[in-house]
Amino acid sequence: MRKIVILTGAGMSAESGIATFRGSGGMWNNYPVEQVATPEGFAANPGLVLQFYNERRAELLGAEPNEGHRLVADLEKNNDVVVVTQNVDDLHERAGSTNVIHLHGELMKGCSSFAPNDPRMVRTLTAQHPVIALGDKADDGSQLRPFIVWFGEAVPRMDDAIAALRDIDIFVIIGTSLNVYPAAGLLNFVPADVPVYLIDPNDVQVRGVRQVTTIRKGASEGMRDLLKLIG
Ligand code: OAD
Repeated sequence: MRKIVILTGAGMSAESGIATFRGSGGMWNNYPVEQVATPEGFAANPGLVLQFYNERRAELLGAEPNEGHRLVADLEKNNDVVVVTQNVDDLHERAGSTNVIHLHGELMKGCSSFAPNDPRMVRTLTAQHPVIALGDKADDGSQLRPFIVWFGEAVPRMDDAIAALRDIDIFVIIGTSLNVYPAAGLLNFVPADVPVYLIDPNDVQVRGVRQVTTIRKGASEGMRDLLKLIG
């Protein structure tokens, strides 16, 4: 079996109706990133931050995986696949992917604000009760917060993502502007002889000297093309 690692970003879920972060119509044009996606923003106005992620969760519950997510999941039939995603949605899992590393956390989970990465404090939210309110407490007594890796915070699952690159045969990048580190730097850990494919309808700046096969299309159409290329 071939081993394939797929790095995905917001563009993967765009066809499911979830806005990307940058570019026209991007989330960060409408919400100041330092207010809703930093620990300082949360300290300054926790109610606003909780509301922002409550809204994102409501939006996610109304969304469905798209064909691109399903084709990524289908690859597992004949390949050993690891999805490394910057997305906090659960659309890869809902499409059937079984090995997903969430670099930036998970929208459907809450955690301690004292120790965001303590797995004992992580709580899964449900479709019936997808809300975190001011006053909701983690088991350590701290305010429950979204299980999201904010700007300026550590990315603990980066080590797992790097480890997943061992002995890979193919690396695929889908729908990320490669602006945010360390996620964007994952490509630097891909051995030089491994073919790299990039699916994105727009121009993406890939730093470094490596050869990348670009499929300049949206995630669903791009995945169909990729399957023709890799068989
Ligand atoms: P960006 O919004 O920076 O980039 C989205 C990419 O998706 C762009 O390159 C678009 O061209 C592409 N795109 C748009 N529509 C697409 C489609 N239908 N199919 C495929 N690609 C499409 O999002 P990310 O690179 O994911 O972090 O952003 C990285 C991180 O920055 C996010 O995880 C988030 C954000 O701030 C946190 O919130 C911590």
